[in-house]
Amino acid sequence: MTELNVKRQALVNTADQFLLDIYGGLSQPQKSLPCKYFYDEKGSELFDQICQTDEYYHTRTELKILDDILPTVAGMIGPYVDILEFGSGAGIKIRKLINALEHPRSYTPIDISEEILLSSSHALQQEYPELEVHPVVADYLSPIELPASFADETAHRKLVFFPGSTISNFDMPDAIHFLKHIRSLLSPGDALLIGVDLVKPVPRLLAAYNDRQGVTAAFNLNLLHRIKATYDTDLNVDNFWHHALYNAEKHRIEMHLVSRVAQTVTIQGQSFVFKERETIHTENSYKFSIEGFRMMALNAGFDSTECFTDDANLFSVHFLTAT
Ligand code: AVJ
Repeated sequence: MTELNVKRQALVNTADQFLLDIYGGLSQPQKSLPCKYFYDEKGSELFDQICQTDEYYHTRTELKILDDILPTVAGMIGPYVDILEFGSGAGIKIRKLINALEHPRSYTPIDISEEILLSSSHALQQEYPELEVHPVVADYLSPIELPASFADETAHRKLVFFPGSTISNFDMPDAIHFLKHIRSLLSPGDALLIGVDLVKPVPRLLAAYNDRQGVTAAFNLNLLHRIKATYDTDLNVDNFWHHALYNAEKHRIEMHLVSRVAQTVTIQGQSFVFKERETIHTENSYKFSIEGFRMMALNAGFDSTECFTDDANLFSVHFLTAT
């Protein structure tokens, strides 16, 4: 097997961090849990299943847009680029990008999950022996140390790839902060290719987060199964149900876990009291207008070079240039 040059960011004990985040979240007046904990092995599997439901338009629409635009994007960015990707999923999108680009030089995926990151990086390195693959194990929300190839000022053009509308999970200040962070890794002329979910009629949105097969419900509830599997607790998952709603004022889908009954849940000796119908807020998924996202990008130091959408205006892919 080809040797990969892996960078690891010093991480705190992730199991303990999970417990701290549970305690912190469940102690608030509006109880909440961070959505990043959805993605254990089972959760990642359920997410892949969500992407295949009829109602969840995001993934298939973005893939279609990428198929249509990548030759154009490749022409705009030119040859020998260094690619940086935040989060590494099933790898379908990055393969499309690599195949479209002219002799991409290096690929730096950043992901918190070491196992998935390394196995996907190995596979990619086998398939593209010419490409330098430099995985970085890190939480991409914290400052990261990049491999020399990417940090080198005089090197080739850089392209940051952030598909899937993951930016939808960030609250507005965090989204701007994250875009500024990306910008700080780039020089003028470098680019960001980012997938962004669009505002649209509410029924369509609600359907996407309340699929008839109940996969999204299972995905949401899996967070409680994960807590149960990790800690000593009397938590009864059946005492909660999945609820997704659209918060029109904030342009976001919210996912909640609703307590069916008045109950006390004890996790590792710490008790949390729930009223009947009290909720744990588990996820926000912000929806953007093209103009709204442009303004945000502009604010972070990016020029909007192109924005691509599908015919039904369900999803957008922005090609932004660092100014
Ligand atoms: C991965 C954040 C884009 O918000 O649509 C899917 C996650 N949550 N169904 C989204 C998700 C419930 C997804 N993102």
